[in-house]
Amino acid sequence: MRAKIIGTGSCLPEKIVTNDSLSGLVDTSDEWIQSRTGIRSRHLVSSKQETTLSMAAKAGQAALEDAGLLPQQLDLILVATVSSDFLTPSTACMVQKELGACHAAAFDINAACSGFLFALNTVDAYFQAGIYQTALIIGVETLSKLIDWSDRSTCVLFGDGAGAVAVKASEEGMVACLQGSDGSGGDILVCKSRRNNNPYVHTGTDLDYLYMNGQEVFKFAVKKEPECIQSLLQQAGMQPSDVDYYLLHQANYRIISSIARKLKLPLEKFPSNVGHCGNTSAASIPILLDEVHKKGMLAEGNTILLSGFGAGLTWGAALLKW
Ligand code: UT7
Repeated sequence: MRAKIIGTGSCLPEKIVTNDSLSGLVDTSDEWIQSRTGIRSRHLVSSKQETTLSMAAKAGQAALEDAGLLPQQLDLILVATVSSDFLTPSTACMVQKELGACHAAAFDINAACSGFLFALNTVDAYFQAGIYQTALIIGVETLSKLIDWSDRSTCVLFGDGAGAVAVKASEEGMVACLQGSDGSGGDILVCKSRRNNNPYVHTGTDLDYLYMNGQEVFKFAVKKEPECIQSLLQQAGMQPSDVDYYLLHQANYRIISSIARKLKLPLEKFPSNVGHCGNTSAASIPILLDEVHKKGMLAEGNTILLSGFGAGLTWGAALLKW
């Protein structure tokens, strides 16, 4: 049995922050941000009630309702995030409590922007092994709390939000999937962000915010993601044109169009929401999937390919029948 997505959901914070309003915070402009990234605005949390947990639970609930599943029917909850509210308990366990999914096992996965794909591939492996039959997968980030809001090279890029899918074991659904990591390149995208007050280790208590070497990440993305897609298609014995939609990690529209060019495909096959969501890391693919699904763009039997890359370094992809 393989993983089949049977429902989607998402949750975006109410507050929309435009590029123009960021130019009041740092030395930037709408023109620079749009021309380099395609981003026009992003949603950011703006109250104590909007947290990683609250967004994850809302997106998860919406996916379950879309699927017609009850929380008590879930065997497994996986949450992909690098910005959980607590180190422990995991966001997945907190979502389990919030939804009343009393029979589910729950844990978080940290693979940065590839996290949702790592979680989907993990669920697929559990299903193939016959261990579980139903799962809820959530990608959620509140990156706004990890960002240095005085660093114009990163603060304009990211957004907050959550996306979720309800998944069941089925004869069809997942066709092929892959994931990979290269820890040796990890220092181009880093966030330490942990207080250490151990009296025996004199590291200080300063928090380190997210650091990114944008150009190196860009080079990694435009090389690795098309390679990853090609090898997945090869594994499935398919051509790039056999795929109806490519739902890629939404980091930068220039990266998405470069991949479309490399695959010699029209941009219409690459739906994008980076313009109004920014980069929401692990949440970006499931938020986009929910958007595309709710717009009625997906028909039964469509072939979709999800793919992403991120800190670690990590990358992953999944080829699915809708
Ligand atoms: O989810 C995974 C995450 N990350 C990514 O996928 C990011 C991948 N990288 C990128 O998308 C691009 O590298 C960026 C959008 C981050 C940057 O675009 P770039 O074309 O690589 O710009 P750059 O870093 O080469 O900077 C060009 C100039 C610099 O000024 P000088 O040195 O040429 O005078 C920067 O200081 O742009 C300046 N700059 C800005 N100017 C206005 C950097 N950030 C800004 C800004 N507004 N926000």
